[in-house]
Amino acid sequence: MKHLISIKDLSREEIEFLFNLTDRVKKNPPAYADRLKGMTLGLIFEKPSTRTWASFQAGMNELGGESLYLGPHDIAMGKREEVRDIARVLSSYLAVFVLRTFLHRTITEFARYSAKPVINGLSNISHPCQALTDVYTILETFGKKDAAKINVVYVGDGNNVLNSLLLLFAKTGLTLRYATPRDFAPKAALLKTVKTLARRSGAKISAFTNPREAVRNAQVIYTDVWASMGEENQAEAKKKNFRGFQINQNLLRGAAENVKVMHCLPAHRGEEITNQVMEGSHSLIFQQAANRLPVQKAILLYLLTSIGSNLEVK
Ligand code: CP
Ligand code: NVA
Repeated sequence: MKHLISIKDLSREEIEFLFNLTDRVKKNPPAYADRLKGMTLGLIFEKPSTRTWASFQAGMNELGGESLYLGPHDIAMGKREEVRDIARVLSSYLAVFVLRTFLHRTITEFARYSAKPVINGLSNISHPCQALTDVYTILETFGKKDAAKINVVYVGDGNNVLNSLLLLFAKTGLTLRYATPRDFAPKAALLKTVKTLARRSGAKISAFTNPREAVRNAQVIYTDVWASMGEENQAEAKKKNFRGFQINQNLLRGAAENVKVMHCLPAHRGEEITNQVMEGSHSLIFQQAANRLPVQKAILLYLLTSIGSNLEVK
């Protein structure tokens, strides 16, 4: 049994397999229509969600399975009952779980006691399903040939989304520059892992604190909110540190002419990104969001069936 809690849980071969499977699932949804018949997905969410919840639930339906949403007031995980007790009981009813939690260790604790696969649907330190969708979307847009040369630049907070992007780019040998304010860089331990992975794969990862310098000749500029869920009380204070980090027409001028802009959403228009860029011709944002569905379906198929047993798409 396999979990997907971090990008670290996947090998480069498994990631390539997931992308190939996503292509197939996207091109021919009926071919996978009853693969998860009789199975129920548990969606255990401590925080709000639009894309992660809806794409996993729709994906499960389209694969012939069902899903059960359990929000923060339903099972009150860790408050009404201990995580390990809930994991043991629910995994005797349900076939797979997506967890969205405040603390990453709630997901690892749940997985330790769960008899069924556990997927991280966002924690305070990572968002692997988002990162997989993002790299899939970049490869779909620019092609897999010469993928290592695609100049991708993340501008914003050193948060859960950046952590997972860093691990994924480092695993797959891609190029990522990232610009964060000095005090909002990813943690040293994560960067150490990224460095080791990049040395193995040949990935080129580099850090900046000046967004203008970072986006020079960028083919993709990616951003996310400055204050993540759970940090709402820091939002005003954080804004001051992110002056110059907004994705606007002016910043785009320093990038490649046909630069694509990505954002995992939800966006705070007027903060990390302008309305004009969100709605403009550079935006890849809604194609990126749409790809959550086939990517989640590929993840579910991989974890729950023998489809990936020899890492060849059947
Ligand atoms: N990008 C993303 O995870 O969106 P939701 O928070 O709406 O699920
Ligand atoms: N960094 C954001 C991502 C939302 C999908 C958050 O954690 O709120």
